Amino acid sequence: MRNSILACTGLLALGAIAAPNNGGDPWNGWGFSGNGRCMNDDQANKVANNFASLISAYTTTLANSVLTTTVQDYSDSVIELIDGGCPSGPIALGSATFASRASFEAGQGSQPNLTFNILNVWHNCESVTVRWRLPMPNPVATAAPAVQEEVTGIAVLETVWNGWRSPQQFLINMIYSEFNSGAWLYDLEIFKPANCAAARRMRSLPSYFARKN
Ligand SMILES: *[C@@H]1O[C@H](CO)[C@@H](O)[C@H](O)[C@H]1NC(C)=O
Repeated sequence: MRNSILACTGLLALGAIAAPNNGGDPWNGWGFSGNGRCMNDDQANKVANNFASLISAYTTTLANSVLTTTVQDYSDSVIELIDGGCPSGPIALGSATFASRASFEAGQGSQPNLTFNILNVWHNCESVTVRWRLPMPNPVATAAPAVQEEVTGIAVLETVWNGWRSPQQFLINMIYSEFNSGAWLYDLEIFKPANCAAARRMRSLPSYFARKN
């Protein structure tokens, strides 16, 4: 317990500057005012690996053991894939991709397993941030272009304490996940850029964001 508190306070010192979310109460920011627990590095890595396993080795048993029943998953990147890049697809951007564990299981359970590499894991007392990258070539690209684009993503996982006696001491209760769905849609050959020569000549970044006239 002592070690986990020390490990945690070091990270929080950095995190508090970047993302103060304690509503002005300094004690909330330390994570001790709610359930009195603060996750250590091992517990954070376990949460990160659980998230990876949900994508790479999915089973309903796994989902039931690492997610709360009320878990929500927000990912416009996933919605962009589901919608095939179309502005009027089945799920509106900004809405929950999956609004419960049952919904997550119905969606993720029908997907092929997909290996990805964890690049970084950061945590504070109750959330874990994972940075990841798909191996190349992109395993989802069935009709792949000769030169593929690499897909990298970040997921923020909010957790809730689940008890010392549980094999899963922290359960994932919220997933905020974004990744390079543009590259993914390119690798699937759903997006076929027509302006690559112009992009290679481009020097100034802002023009990428300007409306074409
Ligand atoms: C994904 O991996 C799990 C665990 O290895 C396996 O039980 C499951 O059948 C796999 N799913 C698919 C769609 O291949």
